[in-house]
Parts: sequence; C-alpha cells; structure tokens
Amino acid sequence: MPRIALTRPVPPSIAQCELTHLAREPISFERAAAQHDLYEAALRTLGCQVTRIAGQPDHPDSVFIEDTALVLDECAVITRPGAASRRGEVDLVAEALTPWRALHRLEAPDTLDGGDVLRVGKRLWVGMSSRSTAGGAAQLVKFLAPFGYRVSTAALTGALHLKTAVSALPDGRVLLNPAMVGPSLFDGTSHIAVHPDEPMAGNVLVIGDTVLCPASAPRTRERLESSGYATARVDASELAKAEGGLTCCSLVFDARTP
Ligand code: GLY
Repeated sequence: MPRIALTRPVPPSIAQCELTHLAREPISFERAAAQHDLYEAALRTLGCQVTRIAGQPDHPDSVFIEDTALVLDECAVITRPGAASRRGEVDLVAEALTPWRALHRLEAPDTLDGGDVLRVGKRLWVGMSSRSTAGGAAQLVKFLAPFGYRVSTAALTGALHLKTAVSALPDGRVLLNPAMVGPSLFDGTSHIAVHPDEPMAGNVLVIGDTVLCPASAPRTRERLESSGYATARVDASELAKAEGGLTCCSLVFDARTP
C-alpha cells in the first residue's frame, strides 16, 4: 500500500514562530525552505508519496503539520493545538485528510499537539507538556478505545513536546533522552538513550525500517546503527531554530480510505 507524507511549505513568517524552551535567534526563510525541500526529497527516497498541501503564510508554525492531527490506521484525530496562534492551522489539514480517514475533532477547552503523542503499536503516550492537557488525553481515550488503543499520560522535563524527547523505533523499542523523559514510563519497552552530547537527538522519523536522523546528531545515529538499525540523515538545523524536529514536518500514513 502506498505511504503518504503530507507536508506544508515553510511560511515566510517562520522567524515569528512560537518558542518555548529555545532562545530566539535569526532564522533564514530561504535556508529553512531549502532544508525542507531536502527533507521532502529524503521522504521520497524512503518511498513516501509526498503531498505538499497549501501553506499559510500568516501562520509562522504551519510547516509543523504533525501538531495538527494524529493519523492512525483506523481514523484521524484533528487536534486543538495548545498555542492559540496555531489553532487556525487545523482546518486545511482536516480537509486534506478527509479522503483518507474518518475524522474526530478534539473539542475545547482541552488541547493537544500531535507532537505530544507517541505511538508504539496499540500503546499511546500523551506528553503533559505546556501544549497538551489531561482532558486532551481523555478525549483520545474516548475516540480510540473502540479500536483497542491504550492511552497513558507521560510527564516530561525541558522539552516542547513528548516527541522532542522520545521516538518509537521500527522494532517497538524507543529512542529517548532520559533527562527529559523517564525510561520507566515505557514499561516493558526497551530503550536506547541519545548520546549525552546530543540532547535534542530524541526526535527521529521512522519510515518503514529506516530511521531518519538529524544531521546534528551523528553520535546518536552511530548508536542506532550499532544497534542494528538502518539510518539516513537530513540537515534540518534551520527548522530546529524554530523548535521543530523531523517528525514535526510531516504526517506519514498508509494510503487507505475510510
Ligand atoms: N515552534 C514550534 C511550536 O511551538 O509549535
């Protein structure tokens, strides 16, 4: 079955993005857009059908499409992002997902960012970040329990989103930064720690059996390779200044219809 990767263009306003844990520094739109092109090319090389949906030039964070939806095999949940500046991003994403999945929509007052939802098989963890609420996690339970998903919340420290700190690997293990999220949360799930010099390396994007790593994390990539994973790399350093990682820039799912 073809694998779709929905993306959105980098908006020229990206330098006005939300920042939570990073200090603001100049961001080059041209450089960010060029890196984003290479990111999309990497996804194509890994077998994805990349569909770039309409941009929103006045939404500085709109390239970070992951936060607007959670796409599972059975349905998709359109989120209500925690940052008020991002709530206008969801409608165009919902429209783009309509041919592919039955949609649920998170309702106010709760909030949820897709970057806070980690999935390992039928287990989901929702990061209790500044963006996602326990009520948001409870709404996921309501939508997803009928499909057999078990949802837990996860405390985190010093990370914008849960997936800033931890990513699911192709074989059910997780890659994590233990300073940001406690490995004991993932009971029964074994983990690989990021290299201590690369605290932001916990966000990697898995496509099939390949782990796409940020070029800024060569030592963590080495750890993954010596643990037997196939890896690829992409430079996303300009997008990282906007506090976005590799998973943030796409929604990847199998092309099945509702
Ligand atoms: N700048 C990414 C975010 O705050 O959502």
